[in-house]
Amino acid sequence: MDVFTAISQRRSVRAYKAIEVEEEKLKKILEAARLSPSASNRQEWKFIVVRNKETKKKLARAAFGQSFIGEAPVVLVACGTESKAIMACGQPAYTVDVSIACAFMILQACDLGLGTCWIGAFKEDEVKKLLKIPDSVRVVAMLPLGYPDEGPSQRSRKGLDQIICFEKFE
Ligand SMILES: Cc1cc2nc3c(=O)[nH]c(=O)nc-3n(C[C@H](O)[C@H](O)[C@H](O)COP(=O)(O)O)c2cc1C
Repeated sequence: MDVFTAISQRRSVRAYKAIEVEEEKLKKILEAARLSPSASNRQEWKFIVVRNKETKKKLARAAFGQSFIGEAPVVLVACGTESKAIMACGQPAYTVDVSIACAFMILQACDLGLGTCWIGAFKEDEVKKLLKIPDSVRVVAMLPLGYPDEGPSQRSRKGLDQIICFEKFE
């Protein structure tokens, strides 16, 4: 699968088959995170692989009851380990860095026939307590991962003419 095919075929998947994710595939997805770029190559991140059924159910509860999270064979919890670093442009490095790594993992998962869904709606304090994440570390996203048990259709997107302008902001 070439990159654009993965980008265009990827969907947010919210139903997963009760099939385990092979170690080899999981490793390749995690490798995609490891190889992704970060500001000044600092790599201030940690990705927690959650497979324990009870823990996944509790993560689903921390995500306002999005129960499909508990049904996924794997939940990846993506954390920024240095939340103080602000880039010269004013953006916190960790949200950008960890988000890029998540995007790379999502595309790699798609290439391997696996589905994911970015989860941004969760109570961070509950997730941190559950997974024993230190106070200074921030949870950026959770990614349930598994073989899709649904084939969502493409969601609409704005046209290029609405989001691109040339030479100056219009
Ligand atoms: C930052 C972010 C947070 C999101 N949070 C959630 C979430 O908590 N629960 C959920 O079901 N989907 C979540 N999504 C998925 C979006 O709803 C989805 O990407 C969007 O509707 C477009 O659909 P598509 O991914 O299938 O193209 C999130 C996506 C992003 C990028």
